[in-house]
Amino acid sequence: MKIAFADRRPDGDYALVLPVAGKDRASLALLGSSEQTVASALDRQRFEGDAASTAEQFVDDGGTLRRVLVVGIGADGAPHEAAEKLGGTAVSRLLTSGETRAVIDVSALAWDADTAARLGLAAALRAWRYDRYRTKLKDKQKPTLDQIVIVGGGSGAQQRYNERWAPVYEGVSLTRELVTEPANIIYPETFVQRVRASVEGTGLELEVLDRAAMEKLGMGALLGVAQGSAREGKLLILKWNGGGNGAQPVAFVGKGVTFDTGGISIKPAAGMEAMKWDMGGAGAVAGAMKALALRKAKANVVGICGLVENMPGGNAQRPGDVVTTMSGQTVEVINTDAEGRLVLADAVTYVQRNFHPGTIIDLATLTGAILISLGHEWAGLFSNNDELAGQLQRVADESGDKLWRMPLGEPFDRLIDSPIADMKNVGPREGGSITAAQFIQRFIEDGVRWAHIDMAGKAWSDKPGNTYDKGATGFGVRLLDEYVADVLEH
Ligand code: BES
Ligand code: MN
Ligand code: ZN
Repeated sequence: MKIAFADRRPDGDYALVLPVAGKDRASLALLGSSEQTVASALDRQRFEGDAASTAEQFVDDGGTLRRVLVVGIGADGAPHEAAEKLGGTAVSRLLTSGETRAVIDVSALAWDADTAARLGLAAALRAWRYDRYRTKLKDKQKPTLDQIVIVGGGSGAQQRYNERWAPVYEGVSLTRELVTEPANIIYPETFVQRVRASVEGTGLELEVLDRAAMEKLGMGALLGVAQGSAREGKLLILKWNGGGNGAQPVAFVGKGVTFDTGGISIKPAAGMEAMKWDMGGAGAVAGAMKALALRKAKANVVGICGLVENMPGGNAQRPGDVVTTMSGQTVEVINTDAEGRLVLADAVTYVQRNFHPGTIIDLATLTGAILISLGHEWAGLFSNNDELAGQLQRVADESGDKLWRMPLGEPFDRLIDSPIADMKNVGPREGGSITAAQFIQRFIEDGVRWAHIDMAGKAWSDKPGNTYDKGATGFGVRLLDEYVADVLEH
């Protein structure tokens, strides 16, 4: 989707999109002689300008038949939220409508350049789809819309879009692609290849550890998960040094289980195909790193993707096995389906030993229990530091990647003690997301600020949202990008 900004409406064919804020129909004046007709049409459709409501009609615009899509943006609410609703709603209505170009005219709203630019971001994000394997789409199902022109967004909107939001779009796209691809296509090695090809020329530095390298480092927890699969596990390290030499980096760490069968503690068949997106945390880290590099963020950030496939098989680890992690701590593997925390344990140890970050944020589709707690609305946030948690909640609201803080504490930590090793990899059913977080915390060294984001309910959506169609959401990219922009670059 091409996103452009202009001072006035272009010539030729296009659908005209007009935002209406509740009862305030100022935008309709832009219709000239058709204003009255459209206003009465809105009344007869009981259109009240509520956020994301729409009404459509065709008018005679100086001799051409013009589609006019009126989109409600609500009477109150922050402008950037209204802008994103407008962009997402317009695209969802017009993408396969037959129109090839849409003009969104925001002249009546007095938005600043950033708000107009975020309208462009939402439109681009909502248009994203992945049709690679759909070879029999009927013409009517194919997208027609390929250009959006935003008019009246003020000077500087185009530049703001190019510099700040187009990179975010590119990052989210990469994440969605990685998450959408099935597990016969994306596995640890091809995940690395796909990311490498996608970030070429951005200035991101890549490093990859294979099994032999991880064996040398003693990463017995990650390798224990990987050993049941014919696909070798990998650790992908993405480095962005935009903050100058010497500044302590922030680390983003993602769970990248390219398929989670559960291993020997195998999952039931129904719905198991969903476990192709058990790499959503690693996907978000890769996408965020790409976005940061494209917009040349002034910060030092290291991204780690712990990549494995969790399979049963003759060489798979067994329940009851004891593995030694890179930290030296030992783990009794009670349930091979609690594999994400094992991968993260070695990934966070690796990043602490090699990069000495002051702050670590990990993202993982870690527990089904977080879905029971928070449904599909929020990801769970766990942190050992109130300031970091507060910053993340703020950027969550700003970015739309919503977080709800969950508790941690010694009584939960006790639940993962093991009679034979330093800890076991599962606690009781109750509080399952919390004991999973406690497990990761055992690998966080003293003085390191850490936040864990359990995004099991957020990587994939069964219904369309404002900035995504059903499928991969790209959750986490905007959150991490906003964290860097709001907290590290200020
Ligand atoms: N990848 C799953 C968590 C998950 C479940 C993500 C449903 C998305 C939807 C994770 O590896 C897992 O299997 N967790 C187990 C942990 C249990 C064995 C302690 C779970 O949540 O059931
Ligand atoms: Mn699992
Ligand atoms: Zn998993």
